[in-house]
Amino acid sequence: MRDGHRRPPTDKGISMNKTATLTIDGKSYELPVVIGTENEVGIDISQLRSMTGCITLDDSYANTGSCQSAVTFIDGEKGILRYRGYPIEELAEKSNFVEVAYLLIFGELPNTKQLAEFRSLLMEHEFIHEDLRNHFEGFPPSAHPMAILSAMMNAMGCYQPDLLQPAEDTHFVDAAARIMSKVRTIAAASYKKSIGYPMMYPRPDLPYVPNFLHMMFSKPNAPYEPSPEVVAALNLLLIMHADHEQNCSTSTVRMVGSSLANLYASVAAGICALWGRLHGGANQAVVQMLLGIQQSGEDLKSYVAKVKDKKSNIRLMGFGHRVYKNFDPRSRIIKGACDKVLAQLGIRDPLLDIAKQLEEIALSDPYFLERKLYPNVDFYSGIILRAIGIPVDMFPVMFAIGRMPGWIAHWREVHLSPNPRIYRPRQIYIGSPMRHYTPMEQRQ
Ligand code: ACO
Repeated sequence: MRDGHRRPPTDKGISMNKTATLTIDGKSYELPVVIGTENEVGIDISQLRSMTGCITLDDSYANTGSCQSAVTFIDGEKGILRYRGYPIEELAEKSNFVEVAYLLIFGELPNTKQLAEFRSLLMEHEFIHEDLRNHFEGFPPSAHPMAILSAMMNAMGCYQPDLLQPAEDTHFVDAAARIMSKVRTIAAASYKKSIGYPMMYPRPDLPYVPNFLHMMFSKPNAPYEPSPEVVAALNLLLIMHADHEQNCSTSTVRMVGSSLANLYASVAAGICALWGRLHGGANQAVVQMLLGIQQSGEDLKSYVAKVKDKKSNIRLMGFGHRVYKNFDPRSRIIKGACDKVLAQLGIRDPLLDIAKQLEEIALSDPYFLERKLYPNVDFYSGIILRAIGIPVDMFPVMFAIGRMPGWIAHWREVHLSPNPRIYRPRQIYIGSPMRHYTPMEQRQ
């Protein structure tokens, strides 16, 4: 283990003094109750099947705690989000993405020496293997950058076979820094490939965010110097996306990691899970929705009416959340930043006006109020990404860069668990009862 990088705390603040009673067919069973450090209560059903023969059924896991985790706390009713105990609002105001990444991965804010050491590791690993650059040639120009990112992440693992099972802390720190650093090199290279421009090498003299922007927007004959406002805006967005406890992609990373798959394979799977429109692909879908409204000139109230009509199969993208039932604190922070960033950059984006009007209409409509649907992290993030100059199909990739430290922290937590077990849910089978094989000539 490199000097000073701590192991994240695990299994803190758990007490199990209470029990819950479950009665099935007149027989009662006592189940342990687990209480988290923020007084969240969970009924431990891990022995339920052996005690009763029953399992729990929770389609889409809305009421299932899949693990105990010390990374991120969310109170969806109160709109609270904290990374390792620190409120998202404080981190947004005072920190930067690399420091937040360190906090998530190692459990504590770094001191000066630890941060310098982590930054130098990120710099050391910013290049991708030269042969890996040839892999980009295999993708058609139309390939979605999320497909490229996931494939390249897996391919990257092949170049560091010694890091495939980073059981040792030294290997883990190295693998974590490699992935955090190279993900932006791959992301920028996939963009350059898609527009037919030469890929830009990273610049070791630049910090994390400006280096990414350089690889995205510099050309061999025209260097790009991002303004401090653009760097600050991107830092903010990456912090907002850095972790969100057991969401779909993080649960995927934990699930894949639980089979003892390596970190590269696990985060490659996480990227695929994030890509969908209901998750990290929503930021792309929101801007496409706003552009569609702008181009068609459709009346916003009639668009909202369509969204409410179940037969239309249209959702108000960037609205609603499985956990937040009051407001999403990330959305508030990003919305606040939108006006500031656009003003600083001298940009007037009509999509921001459309988004604000849509929000106003939705939040005064009983459909959204009754269902507790509020703007989520993706509703306003695309406006800032557009202002920075990021193309729309790269939006989910920006989410993936931001979410990388969270995925790494969760993969680590799975591997550090005192009782590591493969994730393996059960099911209630509703298919055909037992039947016998029918020879072809007897089939209808
Ligand atoms: N627009 C219109 N109606 C909605 C929306 C929406 N965006 N979201 C939920 N609803 C409705 C559902 O139709 C359902 O109505 P019903 O009770 O009449 O059947 C009710 O609200 C509950 O919705 P569920 O789909 O059960 O909520 P769930 O927790 O499963 O889904 C999700 C959460 C996927 C975020 C959903 O709200 C959605 O599709 N939002 C749009 C996509 C989006 O913005 N995703 C990004 C989420 S944040 C993130 O992952 C980074």
